[in-house]
Amino acid sequence: MENFLLQAHSGWRWIVLLLIVVTLIKALIGWLGKQKWSSLDSRLLLFSRIAVYIQVVLGVILYVLFQGWANMRFTGEHVSVAFLAVGGVEFGAARARKASEDAAMFKFTVIGFAIALILIFLVIAAAT
Ligand code: HEM
Repeated sequence: MENFLLQAHSGWRWIVLLLIVVTLIKALIGWLGKQKWSSLDSRLLLFSRIAVYIQVVLGVILYVLFQGWANMRFTGEHVSVAFLAVGGVEFGAARARKASEDAAMFKFTVIGFAIALILIFLVIAAAT
């Protein structure tokens, strides 16, 4: 069970990274190219959020069942930073939804997802 969850949590990171990178690049192109916000952009935000939450749920189950508070360094470097990364994704998605102009929607997506991507690299570095 532990091994299965660990494999799932470990492998799912690639889906998370792919979605965040694609969303970020698409938003950057949209922002710099003054494009219109499309339903694909909204869908990419939604799929990224779902992927990140699946990653977190798998992580929380692993943590609660098999790791716990025993390793405070791991908790500080992996878990806390992961929640900050979720904050980056949520910030980008929420501010993009509220913005009234296309350029602002792309801008907030780029800012939030760039922060999240940097933090996720730190999260992964702390886990391996
Ligand atoms: C964006 C978020 C996250 C990413 C990308 C991520 C990625 C990873 C990776 C790559 C590993 C190493 C797996 C391996 O050894 O093959 C790992 C391990 C682990 N992660 Fe995460 N993780 C994230 C969030 C979380 C969260 C929020 C928690 C807990 C609340 C968590 C708990 C764990 C635990 C308990 C392990 C196993 C550590 C061990 O056995 O030494 N992760 N994670």
